Amino acid sequence: MRDTPSTTSTSEATRLIHPQGDAKAPVRTAAPVLQRGTTVLHACAASFGQTLPSYGRSGLATHGELRQALCDLEGGDVAELYPSGLAALAGAILAVCRTGDEILMCDTIYGPTRRFAETTMADYGVTTRPFPASASAEELEAMLGEKTRLIVLESPGSLTLDMIDVPAIAAMARRRGVLTLIDNTYAAGLLFKPLAHGVDISVQAMTKYICGHSDVFMGCAVARGEVGALLQRGTRAIGWTISSDDAYLALRGMKTLELRLAQHGAAALEVARWLSARPEVKSVLCPALPGAPGHEIFARDFSGGNGLVTIELDGPLAATPAFLDALSIFGLGFSWGGFESLAIACNDQLEARAFEREWTRPVIRLHIGLETTGDLIAELDGALGAFAKAAQTLSGVPA
Ligand SMILES: Cc1ncc(COP(=O)(O)O)c(C=O)c1O
Repeated sequence: MRDTPSTTSTSEATRLIHPQGDAKAPVRTAAPVLQRGTTVLHACAASFGQTLPSYGRSGLATHGELRQALCDLEGGDVAELYPSGLAALAGAILAVCRTGDEILMCDTIYGPTRRFAETTMADYGVTTRPFPASASAEELEAMLGEKTRLIVLESPGSLTLDMIDVPAIAAMARRRGVLTLIDNTYAAGLLFKPLAHGVDISVQAMTKYICGHSDVFMGCAVARGEVGALLQRGTRAIGWTISSDDAYLALRGMKTLELRLAQHGAAALEVARWLSARPEVKSVLCPALPGAPGHEIFARDFSGGNGLVTIELDGPLAATPAFLDALSIFGLGFSWGGFESLAIACNDQLEARAFEREWTRPVIRLHIGLETTGDLIAELDGALGAFAKAAQTLSGVPA
């Protein structure tokens, strides 16, 4: 009998392609097993309560293979699956917080995560305090109170891609007996390893790079030991489940994850370099770019960048539509992590932040997709030209 590749001696890219399946299954296929079902049939009366899973809601063979692959990717021993990235963030927070607890949450967190904490968690008697992404471990330690249970991080943060010194904060929190959770969607579990840096729970919107084709909503939370058991308890109690077909698509996405991320990252860096030389661009927020804000932490902790690049345009907010409407390869839409290039204006969302500086110029988040980079640059060239023209018209100076 031939073995599946070893989990220790092969590279991560190889293991993503050959996860540890059931090597002893009578018929094995190169593609993952797709097992659909709700009812699990038990062999005899005595096996009720013994056969696991005993009911399809807690996951069948496809889910099992996906959970194992996520544990391997994130370095955990429990991986829970949720029907969206937001559900994963909400589910993990609910699983570890109790009435009376306090959450410290970075100000640059994905907006709906903050909304969940400030509404639903508040209804359950859990308070949330924001802290600036620039806070050092010492500054954050000074904010800890008796009730602080959880520190929620995201690095690079949503929209403005601010970097946080995650290893320092995780070490401080561990010393003080406070749990840490990170939204690790940017890294897709591949570019940064939160659990290896001392974080307790790594959450991802698998909707983005893992599924990777803009057609599946899914999330996961990965942890070890007792924290993993709490996550498991929460998922079982609430009844979150995902379809076997979606679990299959996530496994399929994982096989090309490394290749896709390498291309997204290289293309985004090329676009970021090009943008940083343009007079219409005031600043480029892309921590993978040498010299950009947060690059030092990024270069220390991350093995590469993804496709996100945010730019601040040098002109009035009112000229934003001229830039966006000049794009056609770039779709105008929320989300990222799929094969395609996307653009959104961020200014409205940034207003919800507590510590954010005032953004008086257009802030645009680009997702650099898998199209030919030269085509994207040519399109951005035209859009910057349209933006400059609109800015000139708005200022009353003849074009
Ligand atoms: C950083 C981050 N986390 C979580 C989510 C939520 O993922 P989902 O859309 O699957 O709920 C998103 C979605 O844009 C995101 O950008």
